[in-house]
Amino acid sequence: MKKHLIIGKPINHSLSPKIHNYWFKENNIQAIYEKLSPKESELKEIVKQIKTKIIYGMNVTVPYKQVILPLLEDYSDLVKETNSVNTIFNKNGKIYGDNTDVYGFENSIINEKINIQNKSVLILGAGGVVPSIISALNKLKVGKIFLSNRTLKKAEIIGQRFKDINILKWGNIENCDMFINSTSVGLKNEEKLEFDFSKISKNKIFYDVIYNPRRTSFLEEASKLGHKIINGEKMFLYQAQKAFALWHNVLPKIDKKLLDFFKND
Ligand code: ATR
Repeated sequence: MKKHLIIGKPINHSLSPKIHNYWFKENNIQAIYEKLSPKESELKEIVKQIKTKIIYGMNVTVPYKQVILPLLEDYSDLVKETNSVNTIFNKNGKIYGDNTDVYGFENSIINEKINIQNKSVLILGAGGVVPSIISALNKLKVGKIFLSNRTLKKAEIIGQRFKDINILKWGNIENCDMFINSTSVGLKNEEKLEFDFSKISKNKIFYDVIYNPRRTSFLEEASKLGHKIINGEKMFLYQAQKAFALWHNVLPKIDKKLLDFFKND
């Protein structure tokens, strides 16, 4: 039985076990996927179990996507670019880290059949997932990226990692083609970002990285104002798909059956 694990804090909300265990069954793979919320001091021992193959595959989520990097023996160029790891496995005997969040975001956009080439994008927030979103936006050849975070310094640090990022003071918005909420505001239903989007011209794209709740107040308001809205569901599913493919050399299906299963909690 191949053991898989997602680690993060908190971890209870994670739907990764649900999706991967479904795919194991669909693909006749003898494996199991569990979740764990270790202390930071325990990470080293856990990662070692990749080396000994006690753990076959691992996902990493907030707040460990960066701090786990020094514990790896090798990692992909995307990890180098984003300084963020979400998938770990034993590659040629080494503890190897990769980043499938970039693929997740990129494919969620491709899946919507929208073209953001040369378009302008404003990202709100500067948490762990933002470097991956920027990498994906660059792959999709967007024209201009604005970044704004309540704590300016964190946006500036991310801005330094990439070329041509325009930092905006928190509260200022530009009339962009796409707006991405990557803050944690909206995870609780009563939370709301205090932005006035009413002056943004219609038919823009509003994307929230959050997928539970499915419609945050950010998306609700954008929908009322006549914009296209996308939640984080597809990004989540595509990052999982890529992780599965890295571990098992099979690209599992994101079809209607899977989507129905995912939505039925
Ligand atoms: P991490 O930083 O550990 O990766 P995250 O949940 O991915 O955690 O990121 C949280 C993001 O939501 C941050 O950009 C945070 O802003 P700060 O850097 O200023 O803390 C943002 N955030 C959380 N609560 C917020 C609030 N009430 N208003 C605005 N931004 C908020």
